Amino acid sequence: MHNTLDLKSKNEKDILRAGDILKHGGLVAIPTETVYGLAADATNEEAVKQIFVAKGRPQDNPLIVHISEMSEIYALVKEVPQAAVLLAEHFWPGPLTIIMKKSDAIPAITSANLDSVGIRMPEHAAARAVIKASGVPLAAPSANTSGKPSPTTAQHVRDDMEGKIDAILDGGACDVGVESTVVDATCTPVRVLRPGAITVEQIAAVLGEATVDKAVFGEVSPGEIVRAPGMKYRHYAPKAEVLLFSGAPSKTNDAILDNLCEDDGVLCFDEYKNCYEDSGAIVHTYGSYRDKQAQGRLLFSSLRAFDKTDCKRILAQAPRPFGEGFAVANRINKAAGFHVKSVDTARVIGVTGASGSGKSTVAKCLTKMGWHIINADEVYHQLLTCDCALRKNLLQHFPDAWAANGIDRSVLAAVAFANANSLLTLNAITHPSVRAEILRRIKVLKTQKITKIVIDAPLLFESNLDMDCQFVIGVTVPRTEAICRIMKRDEITIEQAHMRLDSQPRDAFYRKYADIIIENAGTEAELQSTLENELEAIKAK
Ligand code: TXA
Ligand code: MG
Repeated sequence: MHNTLDLKSKNEKDILRAGDILKHGGLVAIPTETVYGLAADATNEEAVKQIFVAKGRPQDNPLIVHISEMSEIYALVKEVPQAAVLLAEHFWPGPLTIIMKKSDAIPAITSANLDSVGIRMPEHAAARAVIKASGVPLAAPSANTSGKPSPTTAQHVRDDMEGKIDAILDGGACDVGVESTVVDATCTPVRVLRPGAITVEQIAAVLGEATVDKAVFGEVSPGEIVRAPGMKYRHYAPKAEVLLFSGAPSKTNDAILDNLCEDDGVLCFDEYKNCYEDSGAIVHTYGSYRDKQAQGRLLFSSLRAFDKTDCKRILAQAPRPFGEGFAVANRINKAAGFHVKSVDTARVIGVTGASGSGKSTVAKCLTKMGWHIINADEVYHQLLTCDCALRKNLLQHFPDAWAANGIDRSVLAAVAFANANSLLTLNAITHPSVRAEILRRIKVLKTQKITKIVIDAPLLFESNLDMDCQFVIGVTVPRTEAICRIMKRDEITIEQAHMRLDSQPRDAFYRKYADIIIENAGTEAELQSTLENELEAIKAK
C-alpha cells in the first residue's frame, strides 16, 4: 500500500519531485493532452512491472514510450523510417504514437516481447517537463484500471489508483480526452492501429496513403493475432451495459425514448438532454452532436459518471465516425462490445456548401449512383406558393413582399437580407416549415422503398436538417473558382458575386461541421470518380 502523493503541475517543485520519483523507479500518474498516463522509467524492468500490477493489465499488452525531444528517439529504436520522420515533423509534439522496430534499450516487458515499440512525444507542457526532470524515457499507459474508461482528470486517476502508486500530478482536465492515434510505421503503407485526434485523413495527406487495421472496426475472435494487442481486450467499459444506437441523431434519440426502461441511464448529445427531463432517467451528455472535439473530451468522463450511479444499462447516441469522430466512435463501440443497433430504415445524407461550390453537381453525380435528391430550395419555393400557413405568417412579418399573385420572392429576399434581425425572423419562420416538409417527403419515399436519400440544402446546418442525416458532405471550392461559377450561372458582376459570397458562411464553417469535405475544383467527371471510388460511406450497399 502506497501513500499516494497529491502533486500539482503548476508547482515547479512538484514537477521536480515527480521527475525524481520516476528516476528512482517509482510510479507517477501524469497529465497529457490525451488522457492521464501512468508513468515509469521505460528502461527499468522492475518499475515497468509495477505498472502492470497497478493497472491489472495483461502482460501481452505493450506500453507506449514518451519522449520530450526528437533526439531521444535514436537510442530507443533500430531505425526511424522515412514515414515516421514525416509524421513526427507534422504531428509531434502531439497525440500521435509511432510504432518502430525497438532497440535493446527497451526491455521485453515494456514492449510485451514484441520487436517493436510505440513512441510518442506529448504536447502537454507538464508531461514534457516531467520527462525532462526524470531524465529517462517514460513508459505510460492510460492511468486507469485495465478495462475501465481512460482517466481525463486527476480525480479519475485517484478513483482507480489511490494507494497503488507513488504520486498523481494534477494538471486539470485533458484537452483531447481520447488516447493518441497509434500508427504502425514498420509497414508500407503505414497502418492505423488505434484512431485518435490525428485523423487517418491527416496521416494520408502527409504520406499519400494510410490503411486502418481491421481490429478498429470490430471485436477480435479469441486466439486471433492482432497488431495492437490492446485492441483485443474489452475496454472503456463502465459497470453498466452500454446499448449503442447509431444513425441520424433525431432518430437515435427517438429510439432511446422508445426503449427506455426503469434504471436505465442515457448518454446523449447536448441538444437532446431536455427530451429526458420527465423520464426520471440519469442523463449525461457528451457535447453537441456536431462537435467531435467536445465528444472526445467528454466521452470518458461521462461514461465514468455512470459508475457513480445504480444504472444497469446505458442507452447511448452514437457519434458520427468521421474525422476525429472516428476515434470517439471506436471508443464507444468498444465500450458497447461492438453491439450497435442501427436505427435508420433509409440512408439519409446531407449535401451542403456555399454558392458556386458545385453542391448541386455533387447531388447530380449522386443521382447517377442511385441516390434520390430532395432539393431544399425547390421545397422552399413550392411551400411559398402552396403552404397557406407559411404565407400568412410571412406576410404578417414582411407585408411589403406581397405582390398581385402571391409572395414576391425577390422582394422578400431583399427585405429580409436588409438587416440581420429580419433575416433571423425569415429563417425562424421558413426553416421549420422546410424541415417538416422534407421529413414528410422522406416518409413518403420510404413507403416507396426508396432508401438512398440526399438532402441538398444550402442552409442545411442553419435549419438543423443535419440532425436528420446520417452524415453530411460539405462541398468547398477555391474562392476564385466560386466567383467565376456564380458570375457565369447567374449573369452577375464580379462585385455582386463577391457580395453574395460574403453574405454566406466561409469554407471554414463547412470544414468545421461537415463530416466529409469534397474539394470540388475539378471537372464533373473527376467529381463523379471521387464519389464512386474514394468515399466508402456513399458506395452502393
Ligand atoms: O494517448 C495515449 O497514447 C496515452 C497517453 C498516456 O500517452 N497512452 C495510452 O497507452 O493510451 P495505453 O497503453 O493505454 O495504450 C497503448 C496502445 C495499446 O492498444 C497497445 O496495444 C498499443 O498502443 N501498442 C503499444 N505498443 C505497441 C506496439 N509495439 N505494437 C502494436 N501496438 C502497440
Ligand atoms: Mg489504455
